Amino acid sequence: MKPYLVLIAGILFGAIIGWFAFPAILYHSSDQPLHFSHNTHTGESGGMACTDCHTTNETGRFQGIPSVIKCAECHASPIGESVSEKQLVEHYITPNVEIPWLVYSRQPDNAYFPHAAHVTLGKMKCEDCHGPHGSSDTLRIHYTNRISGYSRDVWGANISGFSSNRWEGMKMDKCVRCHGDNNRRDGCVSCHK
Ligand code: HEC
Ligand code: HEC
Ligand code: HEC
Ligand code: HEC
Ligand code: HEC
Repeated sequence: MKPYLVLIAGILFGAIIGWFAFPAILYHSSDQPLHFSHNTHTGESGGMACTDCHTTNETGRFQGIPSVIKCAECHASPIGESVSEKQLVEHYITPNVEIPWLVYSRQPDNAYFPHAAHVTLGKMKCEDCHGPHGSSDTLRIHYTNRISGYSRDVWGANISGFSSNRWEGMKMDKCVRCHGDNNRRDGCVSCHK
């Protein structure tokens, strides 16, 4: 074989490892504890508003994912025939155990993100930052970066940092860029407490 062919083959091999194997090694993947369809609840038949389950606390941050007490309002006993609802009632609601949901967009502890500032004052839509999650039928696999401990959604789906959808990724430069576009000049302590 000609030396340059070996070189090209080597580069291609490296690129394939980089693009496909590296992400697999870099990320730890976990399934959500329970099947949950937003669409069942927020779609036409469900008719619930986002704020029925997602409320903010006095600091303007979200309370987090709703507690099983919220689910029990309708699911104290099964209303349908589905396996996932049966699991919900038996494993969580009846024994009153919180569901250990994994948060895709979770930021490191020292970064402060108030939803109220963006949604109420900034008039942004949930979809602007979360994409179609609120109308989805299934839950994606959750990925955690083994080195940084960050959720993959903070970095964005692509290792390269390129994103195909505007809502992908929420690294510091993205927060700072949008703040700049809105004529905000925040000090570090606005976001780091
Ligand atoms: C019946 C209660 C309920 C309603 C109504 C609801 N959600 Fe949720 N939401 C949940 C639960 C439970 C989870 C945790 C599982 C998951 O990730 O989907 C969640 C998670 C989320 C997340 C994931 C956050 C993350 O990064 O992990 C987003 C985004 C979200 N909801 C947006 C919405 C939007 C937008 C609406 C309105 C269109 C909405 N939700 C309505 C119960 C609800
Ligand atoms: C400007 C971008 C932005 C908008 C708009 C936005 N979110 Fe978020 N959301 C985030 C970020 C960033 C986090 C991670 C917060 C953290 O880890 O402290 C998050 C986290 C969440 C979580 C996870 C639970 C929690 O308490 O952190 C839920 C649920 C959620 N968002 C729902 C919504 C809903 C519902 C709306 C619309 C009413 C919305 N978000 C609008 C950026 C946004
Ligand atoms: C206002 C009433 C209401 C509340 C509150 C509610 N649900 Fe539901 N949920 C429904 C209805 C209606 C269905 C459809 C029942 C069927 O036909 O299976 C459903 C179906 C489900 C199912 C089975 C079908 C599917 O889509 O996977 C699961 C699991 C579920 N809900 C989880 C939850 C969880 C978790 C919460 C709390 C965060 C919650 N629900 C809160 C009304 C509610
Ligand atoms: C798409 C644009 C956009 C993105 C992305 C964004 N922000 Fe903001 N943020 C705003 C706007 C606009 C305001 C001011 C809202 C108002 O006061 O009218 C704001 C306000 C804030 C405030 C100030 C609240 C206060 O009390 O003054 C904090 C803190 C903040 N954002 C943190 C973050 C963090 C952290 C991120 C990234 C995880 C982020 N933001 C991403 C547009 C954005
Ligand atoms: C608009 C909000 C915002 C402002 C202003 C901001 N940060 Fe951040 N910063 C974040 C968020 C969100 C993260 C976590 C995501 C990430 O690592 O990109 C972060 C992460 C970091 C990290 C750890 C990750 C890394 O890239 O090494 C450092 C260090 C940091 N910020 C320093 C600063 C300093 C210094 C300033 C002031 C010059 C500042 N930040 C201003 C939002 C902000």
